[in-house]
Amino acid sequence: MRLNAYLARAGVCSRRNADLLIAAGRVRVNGAVAGLVTQVEDADTVLLDDKPLAAETLITVLLHKPAGVVSTAKDTHGRPTVVDLVKTVGVRLVPIGRLDADTTGVLLLTNDGPLANRLAHPSYEIDKVYEAFVRGIPSDDDLLALARGVELEDGVTGPAQVRRLARSVVELTIHEGRNRQVKRMCEAVGHRIIRLHRSRYAGLDLAGLEAGQFRRLSKNEVERLREGAKPGTPAAKGSVVVTRERPTAPRRPPRIEEGPSVPGATSLPGSLAPSTSPAPKPPRGPRSGPAGSGTSGRPGRPSR
Ligand code: URA
Repeated sequence: MRLNAYLARAGVCSRRNADLLIAAGRVRVNGAVAGLVTQVEDADTVLLDDKPLAAETLITVLLHKPAGVVSTAKDTHGRPTVVDLVKTVGVRLVPIGRLDADTTGVLLLTNDGPLANRLAHPSYEIDKVYEAFVRGIPSDDDLLALARGVELEDGVTGPAQVRRLARSVVELTIHEGRNRQVKRMCEAVGHRIIRLHRSRYAGLDLAGLEAGQFRRLSKNEVERLREGAKPGTPAAKGSVVVTRERPTAPRRPPRIEEGPSVPGATSLPGSLAPSTSPAPKPPRGPRSGPAGSGTSGRPGRPSR
């Protein structure tokens, strides 16, 4: 790795400032004054002002976030945090993006700042797959509106992939990460979310992990994340697919309104490519429903 990256990983300073230290001749690698293009391995001896440094091991974990746990480092109400759940790793990890306290599912945590920044940046279009258990039975038009983009107070949402997993369970694949985005999207088409679960993030799922458990990502998985690779072949953006796959999150049957049939299961083609314009339907106001989703969201929080 480049010496400036090594210094940044060791927590000395940013890469840019590391270049200044290197240019000033304050860094030695294996006894020799280093240059800006010097490459280092973990086994090399790196001295800054004659003091030895060791690069911190980079760790990224995948947590199956349970409900009732907040994604911030500290909670003003004293609730447990995702950072608490991964403490046993022994190094301080921070979440990549956030999930609401009542949302369950895939959450990555890392001490690799550049990786976190990259994944959190909307331009990388990381696939985030959510299973939304909603009130009522969304119509095919509702699904199409979600796929095309719905008008929220902070702007129209980008195209999504939308699949019906059951009468009142919708899978949405989105790339954006606005505050309470999926809840607000579903509210905009008149279906409040009762329960929200993120089943995949950047192609990674929860296989083998119970709620509250986590695992360290392998080198290959981290490499794939770095390259922005997305395993699998996602459907075209903005498409609606009607399937009968089971949701991966356990259902809570008594709280979900069931209807007599699966509307549109035969009338919709397998995939509809929408126009790029937003949904023609005006947004509907939220209906009253169970707690867990307020009515307004603040724009600007990155990477959900
Ligand atoms: N969208 C939401 O509404 N909530 C989450 O926790 C994640 C995405």
